[in-house]
Amino acid sequence: MKRRDFLVTIWQGIGVLATGGMGFIGLRYLASQNRESATGGIVTAGLVENFAPGTVTPIPEGKCYLVRNTTGGFLALHRQCTHLSCIVIWEERQFRCPCHGSAFTTDGKVISPPAPHPLTALEVQIENGQVRIDTGKQIKRTKTTAEDFIYPPEQSV
Ligand code: FES
Repeated sequence: MKRRDFLVTIWQGIGVLATGGMGFIGLRYLASQNRESATGGIVTAGLVENFAPGTVTPIPEGKCYLVRNTTGGFLALHRQCTHLSCIVIWEERQFRCPCHGSAFTTDGKVISPPAPHPLTALEVQIENGQVRIDTGKQIKRTKTTAEDFIYPPEQSV
């Protein structure tokens, strides 16, 4: 290899690395625009009877979704993806992350990576018929179970 060809190859390599680095930084910046930080404090979601079994309701002030399963149990899920913290969207009976394609079931279980863990649960309290979400009490899970759901006192399973 001639010296000139060698130098051209080196400069091309540096150019590829620089372009890749700038692309990575750009993607990280764009992803960060769709993130949000944790909240804190108790949010009153509403009366138990306002949430029909088998529904998912966004709770914007809590930055979460309130899931009521078909047997009447409640589960609050933080809306941050567990991959790089983008905001997941509820559509077609799944939580989907627009950033890198992760998908989660209704109870937050990963059904499509790269998300490494289920969606983070938030503590649900049910008192005097009101559903409250303690957004400061985040429950990071490695798996999902039926015990993740909280039932109204008169309906404990
Ligand atoms: S942030 Fe990467 S899949 Fe959600």
